[in-house]
Amino acid sequence: TKFRTSKPTQIPGLCFRTFNTSPQNNFHVAVLGASGGIGQPLGMLLKVNRLISKLTLYDLQHTMGVAADLSHIETPAKVKGFVGKDKLCEAIECANIVVIPAGLPRKPGMTRDDLFNKNASVVRDLVACVADTAPKALIGIITNPINAVIPIACEVLKKKCKLDPRRVFGITTLDIVRANTFVASLSGVSPLEVNVPVIGGHSPETIIPVFSRATPGVKVSEDKVKTLTKRIKEAGTEVVKAKAGTGSATLSMAYAAARFTNSLLRGLAGEKNVVESSYVQSDVVCDISYFATPLVVKAKAGTGSATLSMAYAAARFTNSLLRGLAGEKDVIEPSYVQSDVACGINYFASPLVLGKNGIEKNLGIGKLNKFEEELLKKAIPVLKKNIATGVKFVSK
Ligand code: NAD
Ligand code: LMR
Repeated sequence: TKFRTSKPTQIPGLCFRTFNTSPQNNFHVAVLGASGGIGQPLGMLLKVNRLISKLTLYDLQHTMGVAADLSHIETPAKVKGFVGKDKLCEAIECANIVVIPAGLPRKPGMTRDDLFNKNASVVRDLVACVADTAPKALIGIITNPINAVIPIACEVLKKKCKLDPRRVFGITTLDIVRANTFVASLSGVSPLEVNVPVIGGHSPETIIPVFSRATPGVKVSEDKVKTLTKRIKEAGTEVVKAKAGTGSATLSMAYAAARFTNSLLRGLAGEKNVVESSYVQSDVVCDISYFATPLVVKAKAGTGSATLSMAYAAARFTNSLLRGLAGEKDVIEPSYVQSDVACGINYFASPLVLGKNGIEKNLGIGKLNKFEEELLKKAIPVLKKNIATGVKFVSK
């Protein structure tokens, strides 16, 4: 199957007007946190999306001005502003998609995890209202830290018996947008042509660009792949530093969220083979077993592989088994075993096929090369901790 990503072939916004191929173009999108650095340009990009007939904007402040301003743009979407907590549910009512950029952004020196204390309750409360007023809505969350707040959203919905994991998304599109941009500038290919899958989560330790499966094939050296990977992992911090205390990525994020929302809309409208990656509830990591220490040593020039050192290693390993059998305590020996180390990871970003109910199919992790496997290995314990933090926040 040839999957089509939503990457525009022209400038977003105006080009979104060309996506009007479906019979249905009357979707309602609500933006929560609509007056912020991301919320305002995102509102603008959604206002020019022809699949949207109603755009509701909610924030604790300034929304009426933003809504009045956007409402003058010559596109069909009707814009309505809602300000203050008592207007939240009204803003969300009957929405097909709720996009959430509400919450605090980073300042230099902070990690995304440092935002947890402020943003966890923001996401919890907003999602609780979605559960009550638009339980069938697709929810796209931008608020950081993504790795922990998506589990919060799912736990809140679960508590209210409204969880449908196909409908809850952590928006990680910016990582893909950056990977495409950076690799295009290195390889000379147009950024409109490049697609680099990025999987995992949304933090330096958990962002995993998969250059081995980039299309068209990426012809850059191993060293360049390492440099690019580091830059993508730290691109958020690059922007935070450049903005010098005034915030984090807003414009590129608004673009990324508009691209993602457009893909959700195309899926809702019945378009086939719409693919977009996102951080979602999923068990794709459970299918892998990278957690052993392989004992194989390189071949000895045609006469076989390591024999003497291998015999030593096997004797050492057998001795450990014997010590365990004999009842000795705390005998530790690494081994390649069937393992559920990764099974605590029930959230992961990977490419998804989108449809009328949100996720139609999770395309999973796919084949990784050695370098990418190593990145995944390092990401797993971090993701596990982030997920547990989110789940615990709701259960306490
Ligand atoms: P901002 O401070 O400019 O805007 C946030 C807006 O949220 C403000 O208008 C604020 O009034 C509003 N808000 C706060 N609490 C609210 C609540 N309870 N209900 C409704 N609105 C509320 O911040 P920003 O630059 O727009 O960033 C927003 C979030 O997006 C941050 O957490 C940031 O870290 C995150 N972010 C994520 C990505 C990503 O890739 N997923 C990229 C960039 C930024
Ligand atoms: C980003 O990747 O730009 C966002 O997650 C914002 C941040 O804090 O880096």
